[in-house]
Amino acid sequence: MKSLIDMSTPVGVWLTEELSLVSRVLFEHLINKHPDVNTLCNELATYKGKMLRPSLLLLSWRVLHPDTETPQSVRVAAGVVELIHLATLVHDDVLDEADLRRGARTINSLRGNEAAVMLGDYLLSSAFLLCSTIKNPDLNLLLGEVTNTLCAGEVVQLSNRNNMDLTQEQYFQIIHDKTASLIAASCEMGGVLGGGNEVQIRVLREFGDKVGTAFQIKDDLLDLLEEENLVGKPVGRDVEKGKLTLPVIVFLQENPDIKSVLLDVMKSGNTKTLREILHSAGSIQTTIEHVNELVTTAVDGVMGEFEGPTVAQMCVMVAGLQTN
Ligand code: FPP
Ligand code: MG
Repeated sequence: MKSLIDMSTPVGVWLTEELSLVSRVLFEHLINKHPDVNTLCNELATYKGKMLRPSLLLLSWRVLHPDTETPQSVRVAAGVVELIHLATLVHDDVLDEADLRRGARTINSLRGNEAAVMLGDYLLSSAFLLCSTIKNPDLNLLLGEVTNTLCAGEVVQLSNRNNMDLTQEQYFQIIHDKTASLIAASCEMGGVLGGGNEVQIRVLREFGDKVGTAFQIKDDLLDLLEEENLVGKPVGRDVEKGKLTLPVIVFLQENPDIKSVLLDVMKSGNTKTLREILHSAGSIQTTIEHVNELVTTAVDGVMGEFEGPTVAQMCVMVAGLQTN
């Protein structure tokens, strides 16, 4: 897995060390008196990814405190957002009936849906418990709001299955809620713990919001375009599940007359034909340009408020989302 951290800088070295401390906090917190729970939690090792959310939380704190020793509360909060993320992935794989994630078997495919649902619930409740130990009511409120938003986003997505009239506005609301909201909240929590002022916290949050939106559009593109062995998870699942993503919505806006033809292509699961249609109409290119623009505005926004090596690492971290 390609690292998002620039290890040639002191900030990169700091972040790597902090992330390993965050992992320790998180996995120690999950240890339970019941061995069955621990056995199930051990299956999570393969779900651990690049830790984007904890990284952005740590960096958002550090832009405000470049020369201070990291307080334990910041590491704990970073563990909290990763726990929430893990919970959503475990539940998402049940909803998507996915058998692979990061190239390894999902919990639902190994242990069945009941165990996966319960593990997701355990992770979610563990996140709230861990957050309460920080004893900062603002963080608890933020966590309650963001988990609520995540769940609502999934419900709205579910009720719009095969809705060929889904607008761009509705799509952006769904991906904001199901994905960008947690990335934005991670940046905001870093800002809150860093004692940032209103403007600084808003800038950090907006950075996370834009990055999170770009991240989900890119994830949707990979589901449409890539091979399974490159992505490490099943591809073509959005089409199979009747999820309309940005290239399809862009295409339908310009070609409303062939809605029913496109619906048939999607229902038959013919991703190859769908890809060809979207490529030749330029809808894939328009989507890529959208991602690039979101990343550029995110970077411009945060660079307009902060300077120095920490914000530079934040920007390095998100630059990989852009495609030529
Ligand atoms: C990934 O979508 C899904 C999410 C980022 C959110 C999932 C949220 C839930 C299942 C609600 C449950 C919420 C809590 C708090 C436990 P995707 O299928 O497009 O991404 P993928 O390609 O990584 O599978
Ligand atoms: Mg999924």
